[in-house]
Amino acid sequence: MKYKHVRTAKRIAMGAIGTLIAMIGSMTWADDGTDTPPLALRKIMQGMDKNMHIMADAISQKDWPLVERIAPLIADHRQPPFIEKMRIMAFVGTSISKYKAYDGSVAEHAQAVGKAAKSNDVQGAELMYRTLQASCDSCHNEFQKPFVAHFYNSSDVQARPTVGAKGAVR
Ligand code: HEC
Repeated sequence: MKYKHVRTAKRIAMGAIGTLIAMIGSMTWADDGTDTPPLALRKIMQGMDKNMHIMADAISQKDWPLVERIAPLIADHRQPPFIEKMRIMAFVGTSISKYKAYDGSVAEHAQAVGKAAKSNDVQGAELMYRTLQASCDSCHNEFQKPFVAHFYNSSDVQARPTVGAKGAVR
C-alpha cells in the first residue's frame, strides 16, 4: 500500500514536470513565431531600416541637417556582441570578406549621402541613397535566407521584411 503511494506521488510529480516542459516548449519569443531568440543583428537591421525611412523622408523634404545626422547612424551602425559575431563568422566562413564588403559598401554610401546633404545636392543624395539601398539588397539576396535557415532553423524568410528587392518595404 505504502509502495503504491510513492508510485502515485512520483507519477504526479512526473506529470507536473511534463506539463512544465510542454509549457516552456510552447513559449514563443516576442519577435517571431519560432522558439529561437532573435539575433542582436536582427534588431540592428530593424534600426537601420527605420533610419533608412527617416533618411528617405528627410531627402524628399530637403531636410539636410537631418540627413546629415542620420547618415552616420547607418554608416557606423551597432555591431552584434562578440559571441554572436563569432557565430556569424563561423557560419559565413569563407564568404566573410564578401559579407564585410557589403557592410563596407553600406558605410561608404551612407557617408556619401551625408556628404551630398552637406552641399545641398539633391541629385547626389538621391543617387547615393539608391546605391546605399542596393548595398543592403546585395547582402540580403546572398545572406538573409541562409541566416534565417541556419540561426532560426526556419524557412520563414519570406515573412521577414527587407528593403528593396523583394518589395517588402518600398
Ligand atoms: C553584410 C550584410 C548585410 C547588409 C549590408 C545589410 N543587411 Fe540587413 N540583414 C542581413 C542579414 C544576415 C539579415 C537576417 C538577420 C536575421 O534574420 O536575424 C538581415 C535582415 C534585415 C531585415 C529584416 C529584419 C527582420 O525583422 O527580420 C531588415 C529590415 C534589414 N536587414 C535592413 C537592412 C538595411 C536597411 C540595410 C542597409 C542600410 C541592411 N539591412 C544591410 C544582412 C545585411
